[in-house]
Amino acid sequence: MRTQVGIVGAGPAGLTLAQLLHRQGIESVVLENRSREYVEHRVRAGVLEQGTVDLLVEAGIGERLQREGLVHHGIGIQFDGERHRIPLSELTDGRTIVVYGQTEVVRDLVRARLAEGLPLLFEVADVRVHDLDTDRPGIRFTHDGAEHALACDVVAGCDGYHGVCRPSIPAGVISEFSREYPFGWLGILADVAPSNDEVVYAHNERGFALLSMRSLELSRLYVQCRPDEDLAEWPDDRIWEELQLRLGLEGWTLHEGPVLERGVTGMRSYVAEPMRYGRLFLAGDAAHIVPPTGAKGLNLAIHDVRVLAEAIVAWYRTGSTTLLDAYSDACLRRVWRAEHFSWWMTSMLHRLEHDDDFGLKLQLSQLRYVTSSHAAAVSLAENYVGLERV
Ligand code: APR
Ligand code: PHB
Repeated sequence: MRTQVGIVGAGPAGLTLAQLLHRQGIESVVLENRSREYVEHRVRAGVLEQGTVDLLVEAGIGERLQREGLVHHGIGIQFDGERHRIPLSELTDGRTIVVYGQTEVVRDLVRARLAEGLPLLFEVADVRVHDLDTDRPGIRFTHDGAEHALACDVVAGCDGYHGVCRPSIPAGVISEFSREYPFGWLGILADVAPSNDEVVYAHNERGFALLSMRSLELSRLYVQCRPDEDLAEWPDDRIWEELQLRLGLEGWTLHEGPVLERGVTGMRSYVAEPMRYGRLFLAGDAAHIVPPTGAKGLNLAIHDVRVLAEAIVAWYRTGSTTLLDAYSDACLRRVWRAEHFSWWMTSMLHRLEHDDDFGLKLQLSQLRYVTSSHAAAVSLAENYVGLERV
C-alpha cells in the first residue's frame, strides 16, 4: 500500500487533517486502533472557538454544526455567592463560541470520509512508524488479522497523548514540559435542559464546578474531585448534591435529571518540542495537553492540522519545505498561549488541597478583578474565544 500522507489516529486532529488534504487533492490513509463505535461515543469537551467553527465550515463538514451548535455570546464566572457574566462578544468585536460536542465533530468527520469512500481503517493493531528520518517513511500495522505496510511521503502523528508516534522519536530529540494537578473532574451528561443558557465556571470552597450543555435538552456538568476518584463512591444523588452545593445561588434553580453518562478525567499540562522529527509531524494531543478549564484542547488540535495541511499542500505544489520547516514553531506559539491561559484559569478556579488562606485570597482577588475590570475581562475574553494572532 502507498499513500501521500499516513495519518495515525482518528480523533479530531487526524480526521480534520484528512478532510483538509482531501479538499486539496492530497491522498491520505487514516489508521485508528479503536472501533468506530468507540470513537463516536467517547464523550469529550464541547466548546469551539469561532476560528475552529470557520475552519470546519470551510472544510465542508460544518452543516450539522451550523444547524445544531449553540452560539454563545458570554460565559458566567461564579464565586463568593454571586454569578458574573463575561460578555465575550462585546469584549472581542463580536466574536462568539459555539457549544457542540467534540463527539459530534468526530461523527460528522467520520461520516463525510466514509461517504466519499476514502480510506479510514478502524481497529488496526500494532501500529509502528518507521524510517521517519528518511524521505520514505512508512507505517506497519495489522488489520483483520493480516499484516500491512503503508509507504508514505509524510506521517502525521495524530494519535493522542498515549499514542505510538511521539514515543517513536529517538531519545534526546524532544524536550518535554509538564505540570500535574492534584485533582480531576468528575463529569456527567444528564437528560435535563441546561439550567442556564450559558456555560458557568464556579469557584467554591468545596471545589470547582462547571455547568455546560450539549443541546437545549442535555446538560453537561462537572465537579472537581480527586484525580483517582472512584466513581463507585459517587451515586447520582451524591453528584447532584455536590453540584447543588457548588453551583447553587439564591433565586436560581439547578434542575436535576437522569444521568446518562459519567466519567473522571485527570488534569495535566504537557508540551513536547519540537512537534516534528524528520517526516513525522505531531498534531493535537500527541504533542500537547491542556487542563480542560479553558476549553482549548480541541481548538489547538484543529489549529495544528490547519497549519500542517497548508504546509503539506505548499510542499506538494512548490517543492519548498519552508512551511513544513516552520510548522512546529508556528503551532507552539499558540500552544504556549493556550497552556498559559488553561493553567491560569485552572489555578484561579480550583480548590488547591494544601493551599493556605493566602492562596484562596489571591484567587478571590483575581476573580473580582476579571469580573470588574474591563481590561482584565477583555484579556480573559480574547483568550477564551481564541486569539486571531498569537
Ligand atoms: N494507533 C492508532 N490510533 C491510535 C493509537 C495507535 N497506536 N493510539 C491512539 N490512537 C487513536 C485514539 O484512539 C484516538 O482516537 O488516536 C486518536 C487520538 O484522538 P484524540 O485523543 O481525540 O486526540 P486529537 O485528535 O489530538 O484531539 C484532541 O481530544 O482529548 C481531546 O481534549 C482533547 O479536545 C482535545 C482533542
Ligand atoms: C464541556 O462542555 O464539556 C466543557 C465546557 C467548558 C470547558 C470544558 C468542558 O472549559
